[in-house]
Amino acid sequence: MTQRFTFELQATDDRARTGVIRTPRGDIRTPAFMPVGTAATVKAMLPESVRATGADILLGNTYHLMLRPTAERIDRLGGLHRFMNWERPILTDSGGFQVMSLTDLRKLTEKGVEFRSHIDGSKHMLTPERSMEIQRLLGSDIVMCFDECPALPADRARIEESMRLSMRWAERSRDAFGDRPGHALFGIQQGGLEQDLRAESAEALRTIGFDGYAIGGLAVGEGQEAMFGVLDFAPEMLPRDKPRYLMGVGKPDDIVGAVKRGIDMMDCVLPSRSGRTGQVFTRRGVVNIKNARHQDDPRPLNEYCTCPACQKYSRAYLHHVFRAHEIISSMLMTWHNLHYYQELMQGMREAISAGRFADWEAGFHAERAQGDI
Ligand code: GUN
Ligand code: ZN
Repeated sequence: MTQRFTFELQATDDRARTGVIRTPRGDIRTPAFMPVGTAATVKAMLPESVRATGADILLGNTYHLMLRPTAERIDRLGGLHRFMNWERPILTDSGGFQVMSLTDLRKLTEKGVEFRSHIDGSKHMLTPERSMEIQRLLGSDIVMCFDECPALPADRARIEESMRLSMRWAERSRDAFGDRPGHALFGIQQGGLEQDLRAESAEALRTIGFDGYAIGGLAVGEGQEAMFGVLDFAPEMLPRDKPRYLMGVGKPDDIVGAVKRGIDMMDCVLPSRSGRTGQVFTRRGVVNIKNARHQDDPRPLNEYCTCPACQKYSRAYLHHVFRAHEIISSMLMTWHNLHYYQELMQGMREAISAGRFADWEAGFHAERAQGDI
């Protein structure tokens, strides 16, 4: 093994951090945004195009891949990287969260979750041990602990019980994962919006010991203000010298607020999903390409953007192909959105390195306040 999994913190600016995670499959510059490739594809994008936007790592999903095409089949075909033609790092989520949000018939016990597939209704069981096995068969570089979390609002008793179950599962995940040099296992903090439960969860995870620590159970209906409230105390409960990953976040302003509060990694379907529904992210906020005001507009989406959608096409064209349901519409707008997100991360990394994150953040908000051209 040439390269172990390591995290090097390179600069901090107040609570914001920048650094690099090194893995045998390549470096991940942090703060990092991970595009979501749920079903072994970032929808509407070739892997080389995803890389061209600046992504260092993708996210894949245990839940979807175990059902179709199955982890065993992907293993026989040489692992997820080869299967989907992405040689760089892949982080996989562990499945529990997706079972709870995507299936309606499920049974939660100490052992794990029994559920029916949203594809064909077939019966399956996920446990910490099975989730670790699936993520190993996939060849995931960053494996997530098997956890569970309630949608918010939920009562304190439910959040506490769920967090403690997730911490017992974290220990079982750690035992089942074993020692796999070059691969990392991340714990996931739970505890809803409650500071004492977040502290208890962080303490349990630190005692077990992980290669990185995620903050889970947020962006589940609580709103930005409540989420930032938790991010005002949760990151510093986790080890300073390990990557901190905020799961499932978010909109551009959520991401900026999270980085400001000490988060190193994030993932979200928003840039790719919005690319397919005609929502475009720009420095001046969200543009809806469906809007009739674009139909005769020869200008690019953003004259400063270097993505293919902005370099080679007009707003009028993007409007037309969206209205005509042409496949190129999803391709171009997803590319633009992922490019925008990666440029946002790059801007923050540079600002933190230069010790001017506060100025950068003020500029970010000022430009959005101007609105679209
Ligand atoms: N994705 C978004 N939030 C969560 C979470 O709390 N746990 C897991 N496993 N995945 C998530
Ligand atoms: Zn663009």
